[in-house]
Amino acid sequence: MSYDDAIEALSFDALKHVKDNSIVGLGSGRAATALVRAMSSLVKDKNYKIIGVPTSLQIKIIAQKAGIPLVSADQVNHIDVVFDGADQIDSKKYIIKGGGGALLRENILFSLAKKVIVMADKTKFVKYLTREVPVEIHPQARNSAADAVKALGAKPKLRELDRGYPFFTENGNIILDCNFGMIRNPGTLTRKIKQIPGVIESGIFLRRPDIIYRARASRKFDVLN
Ligand code: A5P
Repeated sequence: MSYDDAIEALSFDALKHVKDNSIVGLGSGRAATALVRAMSSLVKDKNYKIIGVPTSLQIKIIAQKAGIPLVSADQVNHIDVVFDGADQIDSKKYIIKGGGGALLRENILFSLAKKVIVMADKTKFVKYLTREVPVEIHPQARNSAADAVKALGAKPKLRELDRGYPFFTENGNIILDCNFGMIRNPGTLTRKIKQIPGVIESGIFLRRPDIIYRARASRKFDVLN
C-alpha cells in the first residue's frame, strides 16, 4: 500500500510550523520532498520569506524547483524548524535515518534546530529498532571500522550501487549498513559507534524529534508530540 496521499496531506498540515522570515531545514527522501513541494505555496502564494537549508543534492533540486532560496548549513547558526523523513522509529522516538545516505548533513541540521519534525508512514513504527543502521565511514577505515562494529555485535555490509560499485556519500565517504538485530539501548549503542575511529556519523540520531507525523491510509495521519 502507498501512503503518498497521507504524506502529502500531512505535509500541508505541517506547514503551520513554518513562520514568515524563518530558516527551514530540508531533509532528504520522499517525505521531505512532499513537504518541500507543499512549502512552495508559502513562498509563491503567501510571499513568505523562507530560507531553506538542504541536506542533499536530491532535496536541493526539489527546493530550487519549488522556488525556495537556499543556503548551506555552514552559513547559519540556528534553524527554526527541520522537516525530515525516517527509516524506522521506536516507541521512545529514537529514529534510524540514512537510507538515502544523507545522514551526516541531516544530523547536523537536527543539532542546529529549535524544532525537529519527522514524517513517516505507519509501517516504520516499531517498539524496538531492528532496521540496519547506516554508518558513514571514512574510506580509509573501511576494514578497521567494520571490525569494530562487528565487535559491538553487528553484521556490517558495505553499501553498493548496481553492479557492485561502492556507494559514496556526498561527503566522499562510504556506508556500512550494520545489522545489530533488536536495538534495546539506541543511545548507548550510538555513543559506542561514534567512538570508533573513522566513523563520521551514525544513522541512529540522539536528538529525538519534537513532533512526529504518522501517515495512515486514505490521507489520514496522526500527530505524536
Ligand atoms: C536520507 O538519507 C534518509 O535519512 C531519509 O530521510 C529516510 O531514508 C526517509 O526517506 P523516505 O521519506 O523516502 O522514506
